[in-house]
Amino acid sequence: MIGSSERRLLQILGDWMGHDGPLYSRLTQAFVTAIENADLPTGTRLPAERAMAQALGVSRATVTQAYEALRDAGWVQSRQGSGTWVGSASQAGRSVVPAGPRPLSSGTFFTRLMDSSPRPPINMSMAALPGADEIFAEGNSIDLSDLLGVPSHGYAPLGYQPLRQEIARSYVRAEVPTLPEEVLVTTGAQQAISLLAGHYLQRGDTVVVESPTYSGAIDAFSRAGARLIPVPVGNDGIRLDVLAEALASAKPRLVYLMPTFQNPTGAVMSEEARRQVARLADQSQVPFVEDNTLADLSFGSHPPPPLAHYSRGGTIISVGSMSKLYWAGIRIGWVRGPESLITRLGQHKVAADLGSSMVSQVLACRILPNHEQVQARQAKMLRTRLDLLETLLRERIPEWRWQRPEGGLSLWVRITSGDAHAFADQALRHGVAITPGSDLAPDDAFHDHIRLNYVVDESLLEAAVERLAAAWQAHRAAGGPQREAVEVKV
Ligand SMILES: Cc1ncc(COP(=O)(O)O)c(C=O)c1O
Repeated sequence: MIGSSERRLLQILGDWMGHDGPLYSRLTQAFVTAIENADLPTGTRLPAERAMAQALGVSRATVTQAYEALRDAGWVQSRQGSGTWVGSASQAGRSVVPAGPRPLSSGTFFTRLMDSSPRPPINMSMAALPGADEIFAEGNSIDLSDLLGVPSHGYAPLGYQPLRQEIARSYVRAEVPTLPEEVLVTTGAQQAISLLAGHYLQRGDTVVVESPTYSGAIDAFSRAGARLIPVPVGNDGIRLDVLAEALASAKPRLVYLMPTFQNPTGAVMSEEARRQVARLADQSQVPFVEDNTLADLSFGSHPPPPLAHYSRGGTIISVGSMSKLYWAGIRIGWVRGPESLITRLGQHKVAADLGSSMVSQVLACRILPNHEQVQARQAKMLRTRLDLLETLLRERIPEWRWQRPEGGLSLWVRITSGDAHAFADQALRHGVAITPGSDLAPDDAFHDHIRLNYVVDESLLEAAVERLAAAWQAHRAAGGPQREAVEVKV
């Protein structure tokens, strides 16, 4: 049942689906118009997210994202326990979303993590596996007296020295000479990206990113006030001609890219492309951040060494993580770069968290030497899941198109009709969480793509594809977002 305040709000929002862009952004725009026209005066309380989602017939995640965008731009305020209300006009940002700060894509991610509904959806939107057995075996055997070897107060903002050594050794094995002093341990690769953003970027700076790209990087750079310049990704990674042009014309402050198993396309840069990218970095003297978070997840042959291997000028900064191969819960990532940069990033890290958990770092140190064994097992499991997912999709939704990746965690699928955001909402109503392509686009592109993470257990994949097929049928029957709008208002 829709309450009277929701009904009145639906009238005020009018044909909100008539705006362009993903659902949350259309909804955000409609709210902004209503606030600007004083249809929603200062102090008006907005319905709770769940009630609003029900009234609009969209997922709660869509409403969460819209409210967050409004909050980020200053149009509304909220406080836990008191709800959300329209802010005073003086506090309202003048920029209309999406020209203003983009709502954090992690809003959706966060909502999914917090989902405590009795029947949570099958989650194909999260690029994360359950923890590797080694984590728990080592965790059980850890004697905390091991920690006596660390500084007694337990703070080590640059990282636990034996772990820095272990990470440096892994770069040496990958043909990138590295000293422990050139490694900063971070709380996951996400913090590595955020620290780099905090160090390099001022409001208004430009950052070149791949399109599509990792949404957490979009969030970190947007939060730092940067303008993002998208460069397309082909089979061979970032398009070199467009990258060269962007470097020349936009004078970016930073370039962020994923040379190996690019998230979400799975693209791997060839040796030759790496050589050329490194040359561009050396010539331009712009810092290039290579995010190798997914690089260990190869199903077959070894991918080429990291970009840093090909650079002569030290302008390539590498980011890595234990999240994908081992476990995201250990929250261990790192930055590899010149020692002077590591020291400065360490200062940012002190301001952020004073240092990562010593317990996690000791555990990480114990596990990293098992790399080959864990890599082989996880790769085998992922390949089996991907094989099954491809077979099921070909059977049940033969019109979808994708290119099989050679590693990583995601299938980047082109759907052949309608808007992917609307389809993702439909899929959620059918019990599967997926990522619409535009969430991964710095330029609001890829409305015809979705990302499917093949991380769910094989026993669930059949049900997942069954639900996706039913959602696809409903989506096509609805004829895309316009028809859904009618459905929404009934
Ligand atoms: C490309 C990429 N970079 C960074 C991260 C964040 O990883 P972490 O869990 O180490 O913070 C992810 C997580 O999905 C990712 O896909």
